Amino acid sequence: MNALISWLDDRTGIKGLMNEALYERVPGGARWRYVWGSTLVFTFTLQVITGFMLWSAYSPSTRTAWESVYYIQHEMTMGFLIRGIHHFAAQAMVVLMAIHLVQVVIDGAYKAPREVNFWLGMVLMMIVLGLSLTGYLLPWDQKGYYATQVTTNIMSVTPGVGSEVQVLAQGGSQYGHMTLTRFFAMHAGVLPALLVAFLVLHIYVFRRHGLTVHDENHAPTTNFWPDQVLKDAVACLIVLAVVMLLAIFKGAELSAPADPAVKFDAARPEWYFLFLFRFLRFHAVEAIGLQFGAIVVPGLIMGVIALMPLTHKFLGDFGHTLNKAFIWLLGGCIVVLTAMAMIEDSNEAAHQAALAEAHRDAGRARELASGPDKIPVDGAVELLRRDPFTQGPRLFAKHCSSCHRYNGHDGRGSLITEKTEAGDVQVLPPTAADLGNFASRDWMRSIVVDYPAHFASWKNANWYKDAVKAEEAGEDVLYLDPDNSEMSDWSGLPEAITAPENEENLKAIVEFLYAEAGHGFQSASSENGASKEALDAALIEKGRAVATEGAWAGDIEGTSCADCHTSLGDDFAVTPDDEADGYPTLAKYGSAAWLKDFIRHPGAARHYGDKNQMPAYSPSQLTDTELDLLVRWMTADYLPSDVADYPDRRQQESTVSTDAGNSPPAEDAN
Ligand code: HEC
Ligand code: HEC
Repeated sequence: MNALISWLDDRTGIKGLMNEALYERVPGGARWRYVWGSTLVFTFTLQVITGFMLWSAYSPSTRTAWESVYYIQHEMTMGFLIRGIHHFAAQAMVVLMAIHLVQVVIDGAYKAPREVNFWLGMVLMMIVLGLSLTGYLLPWDQKGYYATQVTTNIMSVTPGVGSEVQVLAQGGSQYGHMTLTRFFAMHAGVLPALLVAFLVLHIYVFRRHGLTVHDENHAPTTNFWPDQVLKDAVACLIVLAVVMLLAIFKGAELSAPADPAVKFDAARPEWYFLFLFRFLRFHAVEAIGLQFGAIVVPGLIMGVIALMPLTHKFLGDFGHTLNKAFIWLLGGCIVVLTAMAMIEDSNEAAHQAALAEAHRDAGRARELASGPDKIPVDGAVELLRRDPFTQGPRLFAKHCSSCHRYNGHDGRGSLITEKTEAGDVQVLPPTAADLGNFASRDWMRSIVVDYPAHFASWKNANWYKDAVKAEEAGEDVLYLDPDNSEMSDWSGLPEAITAPENEENLKAIVEFLYAEAGHGFQSASSENGASKEALDAALIEKGRAVATEGAWAGDIEGTSCADCHTSLGDDFAVTPDDEADGYPTLAKYGSAAWLKDFIRHPGAARHYGDKNQMPAYSPSQLTDTELDLLVRWMTADYLPSDVADYPDRRQQESTVSTDAGNSPPAEDAN
C-alpha cells in the first residue's frame, strides 16, 4: 500500500495535497461553528448526484416535463426518494447559506484580507438562489408554472433592459415551452458550472487566509484532521438525516399539470421567498411600484452587505457592530414577513379554498395518470380538462351555484356569502335545491315522502316572495309552490306513505326511481371499467309496479305516480310542448339524458312549463362538451376517485357570522 502511495505521490504530489488539506491548523481547537461551509459543500454534492439521476429520466418540454416528473415520482424505482432528496436538500442549502452568512458577519470573517472571499460567497449565494428559482419551474406543474411567471414578470422591470431580460429568460415574448428549456439549461448547465468555479475559488481563497478564529484560547490548537473533520462529518450526517426524513415522510409535491387556461390562485413562491412576496404586497410598496420593491430594495440590501468589509475598514469596531446589527435586523424582518405571509394565508378563506382545489386536482391528476387510460398522447394537461370529477365542480360553481348548492357549497368547496351593510359576512341561503345528493336514494325518498321540505329552498327566492305577495293582493298567479301543488298534496300524506304497511313499498319505489336514474352504475358501461353496483332486480320490479300501478296500502291505496306522471318508467324521449300533458316528465328521471334535456329546456312543457324559474342553458352559454362534463359529474359517470372531495358544508350554510369562512379576500388587510 505504502509503495503504491509513494508511486502515485511521485507522479502527482498527492501526499502534499492531502497533508495540506488535512493538516490545516485550527487555532483554538475544532468547533461546531466552523461546520457550515462543509455542510454546504456536502449538500451541493448531494444535489449534483441526485440531479444527474433526475436528469436521466427528465424530459424538458411542455408536453413531457410533468409526465416525466410523474414517472420519476410514482413509477421509477426510488424515484420519489431521489426527487425528495433533491427537493429538500435545495431548501437545506438556502437555510445553511443564510446561517453561514450570519456566522461570517458575526465572526467578522469578511474583514481584510478576506473581502474578496466574502464577495465570492455572495456570488455563490446568488447562484444558489438562481438554481432554486430555475428548478421550481422544471416539473411544469401548476405551482411552478404560476409562481415562476411572477419571477419572469419581475425580471421585466429591471431598470433599462427589463423587457430584454424577460425575453431572454422566457425564450421569447411568450411564457412557455422555450422558458422551460432555457430554465433547464440554466439549472442543469450554466448555474452548476458557475457554482463549481466559484466554489473552487472560494475554498482556495479561504485556505489561503485560514479560518477566522473567534477565540484563540478556546482550546489547544489542533489540526483539521481528525477533530474538525469529525465535527463536519457529524453535521453533514445530521443534514442528510433531516433531508431523508423530509423526503420520505413529507415528499416533494407535484401539483396538477400546468394549464395556462386554469388560473392557479394558490401559487406561492418557495417558502424562503415568501418574505419578498409579502413585502411586495404592502400597499405602500405596491404604490411605489414593482421595480422599487423587487429590484431596488433587494439591490440596496445586497449592496449594504457587499460593502460590509468597507464599513469595517472605515469605521473600525463600530462598523463591525453596525454590520452585525444590520444582519440581525434583516434576519428579523425576513422572519416576521415570512410569518405574516404564512399566517395571512392560513386565515384567508379564499386562499385555503384555492389550496384545497389544488390538492384535489393534484391528487386527481395522479389518479388519472395511473388509471386505466394512462396519460393521453396530447399531454397530461388533458387529463383534468376531460375529467368530469374536476370540471363538474367548476362548471357548477360558475353556472349553477347562484341558486343551487352542492352539499352546502358552491361546488368548489366555498360557501356562498354576501357582505351585509353592517359589514358582516353572511351566508346566502340557496334559492333552489341542493344538488349534492341529486337522484340518490335519499333524494328520491325525500321527494316521495316530503316534497314541501325537499324543495323548501324555493321559498328563499325573490320570484317566490313576489308571487306570494301578488297572491295576497288577490292576483291570480301561477308559480312553483312547494307547499301547494298536486305533488305536495300527494306527498303530503307522509303518514300513509311511511306507515309500516307501506314500508316495503316505499323501499321498492325508491329503488326503482334510483335505478331509473342509473347513477353510479352507468360507469360500468364506460371504458373505465368501474364495477357495477349490485341492485336488487326484484325490488326494482316491485317498485315499478308501485309507481305505475299504485300498489300502495292505506290512504293512498289505488293511486300511483303514473296517474299524473304518465311517462314514468319509459325511456327518455323529448316530448314536444304541444304533446306534453302538463306534468313533468319522469322518464328516466335524473339520468344523463333527462338532465341534459332539463338543463337545456327547463321551461319546456315536459318539464316545469310556465312555472319554470330556472334559466335555460343554450350551447352558447354551456357548450355540449361542458354540458356533458357537468352531467357526467352529477351522475357520477367517471373514474371513481379516492381523492378527498370537498367537505359537506350544509351545517355551516345556515350560520350567519363574521368568520363564516368564505368572504372574498380581504383586500384591505394592511
Ligand atoms: C336562477 C336560479 C337557477 C340557476 C342559475 C340554476 N337553476 Fe336549476 N333550478 C332552479 C329552480 C328554481 C328549479 C326548480 C324547477 C324550475 O324552476 O324549473 C331548478 C331545478 C333544477 C333541477 C331539477 C331538480 C328537480 O328534480 O326538480 C336540476 C337538476 C337543476 N335545476 C340543475 C341545474 C344546473 C345543473 C344548473 C347550472 C347549469 C342550474 N340548475 C342552474 C333554479 C336555478
Ligand atoms: C297528483 C298528481 C301527482 C302525483 C300522483 C305525483 N306527482 Fe310528482 N309532480 C306533480 C306535479 C304537478 C309536479 C310539478 C311540480 C309542481 O307543480 O309543484 C310534480 C313534480 C315531481 C317531481 C319533480 C320533477 C322535476 O322535473 O324535477 C318529481 C321527481 C316527482 N314529481 C316525482 C313523483 C313521484 C315519484 C310520484 C309517485 C310516488 C309522484 N311524483 C306523484 C304531480 C304529481
